[in-house]
Amino acid sequence: MKICVLPGDGIGPEIMAEAVRVIQALDLKFELEEGLLGGAAVDATGDPYPEATRKLAREADAVLLGAVGGPKWDSLPREQRPERGLLGIRKDLGLFANLRPAILYPELANASTLKPEVVSGLDILIVRELTGDIYFGQPRGIENRDGERYGFNTMHYTESEIRRIGRVAFEAARKRNKRLCSVDKMNVLETTQLWRDVMTELAPEYPDVELTHMLVDNAAMQLVRAPKQFDVMVTGNMFGDILSDEASMLTGSIGMLPSASLDANNKGLYEPSHGSAPDIAGKGVANPLATILSAAMMLRYTFNNEAAAARVETAVKKVLAQGYRTGDIYEPGTTKVGTKQMGDAVLAAL
Ligand code: IPM
Ligand code: MG
Repeated sequence: MKICVLPGDGIGPEIMAEAVRVIQALDLKFELEEGLLGGAAVDATGDPYPEATRKLAREADAVLLGAVGGPKWDSLPREQRPERGLLGIRKDLGLFANLRPAILYPELANASTLKPEVVSGLDILIVRELTGDIYFGQPRGIENRDGERYGFNTMHYTESEIRRIGRVAFEAARKRNKRLCSVDKMNVLETTQLWRDVMTELAPEYPDVELTHMLVDNAAMQLVRAPKQFDVMVTGNMFGDILSDEASMLTGSIGMLPSASLDANNKGLYEPSHGSAPDIAGKGVANPLATILSAAMMLRYTFNNEAAAARVETAVKKVLAQGYRTGDIYEPGTTKVGTKQMGDAVLAAL
C-alpha cells in the first residue's frame, strides 16, 4: 500500500508533517514516498508537475496533498503556475470525482458567520466533476482579433462524463439521506441542459434516491438561506469550484474540511479544502485537521479501512471536545495551540 505524499507550498509542509505522523501512528504498513508539486516543484525543476512526481503518483495507490500556490509564483507564465500542477495531476490520474463534505462540528458552531439555527447540524456533500467542463475545454486563449484582445474558453461535457459523475453522486446519496440535488444553468447553457437530461435519465436506476434540480444562481442563494435543505449536491467543474467554497464557509472553518478526488477505481488524491495560506506559512500556527481528516477519507475510500478512518475522525472530534483550537477556530475559553501541538493532541487521542 503505497502513498505518494506531496506537501506542496505555503503551510503545506507543516500540516502534512502532522498528517504523516497520524498515518504512521496507525501502524498499517503503508509505504510513504514524498514528491514535489506546485511552486516547490517549479523552484526545483521549472515544472509544477514534474516527471518524477508523475511517476510516483501513477505508481501509488493514493496521493496525499498539502496545498499549492502562493504570490511568489503568480506572475510566472500560466504553464508554470502551481495551479497548473494541481490541474495536471487531476487530469493525468483521471480523478473525475471530487467529494467535498461541509460538516459543522457542534463544538465550532460559533465559527460560522450564519446564525447557529441556520447551520447547526449541517452535513452536506458536494460532488464536483473535476476533469472536464470549461476548465479543460478547447479552444481557449487570448488572441488579437480585429485590432483588440479577445479572450475565449469552451464549456463542454459528453454524456458519458456526466453519467459517470452522476453515478458517483447517486451512490453517495444512497449511503446518506438519499436526496440528490443536481445543479445546472439549463436556462442559458446547452451543455448544462444535457447535464440535466442525463441526470434525469439516471434517476430510474436509483429509485430510493430523490433527485431534484436547481439552477446554479438559486443554489448559491439557497446555500446561505437554508443550507440544511441539501444532502448531496452534484455539479460540473466550474459551478462546483464556486459552490464548494461557499458551502465550506457555512461551517466557518475551512481549516477543518477534507476532500477526496477519485478515479473510477477509487484511487484517490486527498487534500484539505483550504489553500496554502502564504500569510501564515512557516509560523507553526496552521490548522492540520483538514489534512488529517483527508487522510481519514483516504483510509475509507482508497484503502477500504472504515475502522481506521473512523478512529482518526473520532480522535479529531475528541481534541475538539477537549478544547484544543488552532488560531483559525479559536474562541475565548478554549486552548489555543499550534500546528504541532494539535498533531500531538490527535496522536494522544488516537
Ligand atoms: C480548488 C481550487 C482549484 C480549482 C485551483 C487552485 C486550480 O480552487 O481545488 O477548488 O479551481 O479547482
Ligand atoms: Mg476552488
